[in-house]
Amino acid sequence: MEWWHNSQIIFRSHWTLSHVRVLSLPNSQDIPAAESVEELKLVAISALENSSTSEELEVWRVDFIGRKGKLTSLLRGLGSLAVDDRRVVGAAANRLRGELEGLFEKRIAVVNSSSAPLGSIDVTLPGRKPASGGLHPSTQMIREITQAFNEMGFQTVEGPEVELERYNFDMLNIPQNHPARDMFDTFWVDSEKDDLLLRTHTSPVQARVMEANDPPIRVVVPGKCYRYEATDATHEWQFNQIEGLAVDEGITFADLKGTLYEFARRIFGPSQKVRFRCDFFPFVEPGVDMSIEWKGNWLEIMGAGMVHPKVLENAGYDSDKYTGFAFGMGPERISMLKNEITDIRHFFSNDLRFLSQF
Ligand code: PHE
Repeated sequence: MEWWHNSQIIFRSHWTLSHVRVLSLPNSQDIPAAESVEELKLVAISALENSSTSEELEVWRVDFIGRKGKLTSLLRGLGSLAVDDRRVVGAAANRLRGELEGLFEKRIAVVNSSSAPLGSIDVTLPGRKPASGGLHPSTQMIREITQAFNEMGFQTVEGPEVELERYNFDMLNIPQNHPARDMFDTFWVDSEKDDLLLRTHTSPVQARVMEANDPPIRVVVPGKCYRYEATDATHEWQFNQIEGLAVDEGITFADLKGTLYEFARRIFGPSQKVRFRCDFFPFVEPGVDMSIEWKGNWLEIMGAGMVHPKVLENAGYDSDKYTGFAFGMGPERISMLKNEITDIRHFFSNDLRFLSQF
């Protein structure tokens, strides 16, 4: 049976045209001509929508608008119509050709734009993982280090990044015009009272904690610091520090060494060697720096020392009764050693190629 015999049954109810004449088509029974154009349109559109590969589309093209397709044979059959009817039906059929060609082009574009058959889902494809964030490498290192100290009885506290000159310098035995201020190139904050700055180290939190608490004190203080410095592979103008402070009766330099040695073993491994050498910081006496042995070299990783009696007194403590030790280190520097990072500037450049490795 020819295609229009089937469709005729389905579409007869759409038969609303007044021009109804008998048109004889090749190998067909008598079919009303105008209805045939309408029916052909509906069948062609429905078949086009069901074609979802380029192969199916080619079959459709040959079948409907090809040289020997259904539209052509309908036009050929026009010859048997009366002249008036021929004009009307012929115009409708030609309009249909334009319409079908347009729809065909659109369909091709849609099909070509997706390689999968339209409307199909390949359930065997691996799922797409949603992008997920992670902890910044600095944060990871800070957590590792503070946890090591937490386990040794130190409590984590924080202090302000925008700090008063008093805490950043004066309380730490660095009075105005003291040459030690040169150790800390400072970003000053524009303010009415000229005493606000971005803290240059986490040591001001030592003074804040002592001012607000009585001994015994054991704290670690992670946080951002800022220095007005030129940057290079080992210097950034912003970086983190972790400060430590222990104050109590009877604390000695042996406690400092024992605690920091234990820290090094926890972070770098049980056979880690450390070295202490004299160093100067105005807020400790004696002052040291601690190095670790790393690939055959001694690398300095922190400053430390016994809290200077003046610093204890500035906070209102009796320096005959209490002693303590303090230390400060840069977690980015330590992460650079552990993770073989060659440039400290990576930490703050927000480059995912770097960050996603942690
Ligand atoms: N605050 C010092 C610095 O930034 C480090 C330090 C802290 C040294 C505590 C001794 C004691 O360099």
